[in-house]
Amino acid sequence: MRTELSFTPLAQIQTELLAVFATDTQTAKGPDVKPQPVLLTSDEKVREAATSILTSGEYKAGPNETVLLHAPAGLGAKRLLIVGLGKKAKATVHAVRNAAGTAVRYTKPRAIRELTVAIPEAVAESGVTLAAEACTRAVSEGALVGDFDADTYRSERKDVSVQALTVAAAAGANQAAVRAAFSEGAIIGESQNFTRTLVNEPGNKLTPTVLGQRAAQMASEVGLKSEVYSTDKLHELKMGAFWSVSQGSAEPPALIVLKYEPEGVTDGPALGLVGKGITFDTGGISIKPADNMEKMKYDMAGGAAMIGAMRAIALLKPKVRVIGIVCAAENMPDGKAQKPGDVQTAMSGKTIEIINTDAEGRLVLADGITYARSLGATHLIDAATLTGACVVALGMINGGAFSNDDATFEKFQTALATSGEKFWRMPLADEYYDMIRSDIGDIKNTGGRWGGAITAAEFLHAFAEDTPWIHLDIAGLAWMEENKPFIAKGPSGVGVRSILEWVRSYES
Ligand code: BES
Ligand code: MN
Ligand code: ZN
Repeated sequence: MRTELSFTPLAQIQTELLAVFATDTQTAKGPDVKPQPVLLTSDEKVREAATSILTSGEYKAGPNETVLLHAPAGLGAKRLLIVGLGKKAKATVHAVRNAAGTAVRYTKPRAIRELTVAIPEAVAESGVTLAAEACTRAVSEGALVGDFDADTYRSERKDVSVQALTVAAAAGANQAAVRAAFSEGAIIGESQNFTRTLVNEPGNKLTPTVLGQRAAQMASEVGLKSEVYSTDKLHELKMGAFWSVSQGSAEPPALIVLKYEPEGVTDGPALGLVGKGITFDTGGISIKPADNMEKMKYDMAGGAAMIGAMRAIALLKPKVRVIGIVCAAENMPDGKAQKPGDVQTAMSGKTIEIINTDAEGRLVLADGITYARSLGATHLIDAATLTGACVVALGMINGGAFSNDDATFEKFQTALATSGEKFWRMPLADEYYDMIRSDIGDIKNTGGRWGGAITAAEFLHAFAEDTPWIHLDIAGLAWMEENKPFIAKGPSGVGVRSILEWVRSYES
């Protein structure tokens, strides 16, 4: 998609479709109360064109509610699309991000290949407070995210991408700031889509080796240092936990290392981003049931989130050092596969009793975390589709977040306010760790039925030790089962935006 920023007055823009946002200012409730939608633009001609529909009571500007007007009088646009942000109290920048996606997804199946989206203006009568820069960024993010569809391998793809998007800012806006926000949003949206493209790939196309190639290719395009290692390096580093997952597969593992080292930054924090990159999870010898097993191609979504975040970091250039590590492997049953009861020695020296070979994510991450610390990471964040238990706890609405350090977690919480992603902090405690003590070795890889997301987190905690660390369990969020007006079903790219913002919060 080509994107461009325009400061031309809205009414003058020649376009196939002009999308503008509206919010409902009605505060009264009741069966006879009419909505009071207000258009978020000061352009008189656009407001005039919309007056009739807005006063009709037929359109209430609900979240992502659309209404289309053809041949709007007095406008250069052939169509005027109004997209709702919902009630004014809920008309946040996150609603704007989604509404921009809705505008794009409205056009896609209708073979409209070019559109203009107007950055919402907080006109006085709307009662909303929306900052122009934040909205600009949200519009470019949301529009790009909305443009993605998962049907890559269809012979005749149903929804062909939008070719050209114009983001229209009010003439009075601070042009330099809006310009910066526009390109920032585009970088973030594209990076999230890069992650989604990787997550969408089936296991036969995206093996650990191919994931490594895709990461290295991206790294060379954006100027990151990259190294992709395989079996020999795992042995050399004594990554017995990581290797134990890989040993049952004909596909070699990939240890992907991406380094972002901004010029002149030689001290201060070094952030370690560690991602689970299981390109397919059969469960191994503790094999999964056939139902829904095909979904387990997305078991590399945590790794892909780190790769997407590293892309955005390389392009946005925060002044802080970042190391991205993805532990990629395929979890397969085989004559050479590990078995329940096996004991593995992790890179840290800890011995792990394997209770269930399907609890493989924590094994690869254990060595990834140890490796990140050995490379000098002072703060860690990991992302993984780690447990079904996390989905039981939080549904597909919130991801699970865990941390051994309140100050570090607070920074993440602040990052969430910008990213709009939903994570809920879950507890860690010694009592949970007690559930994974092993009789034969140091630690077991599962802790029984209860509190499964937490015992998994405690397992990782044993390798992060006292390095400030955040663990994100994205099992319930990485794949969306349903289409939404603003985003296609399939890979969500969750994590990219929040991890990026967390990283930026460490800028010197
Ligand atoms: N990749 C799965 C977790 C998962 C489940 C991701 C559902 C996405 C959706 C993970 O490797 C796994 O199999 N976890 C087991 C752990 C159990 C054996 C302790 C689980 O959650 O059942
Ligand atoms: Mn598993
Ligand atoms: Zn898994």
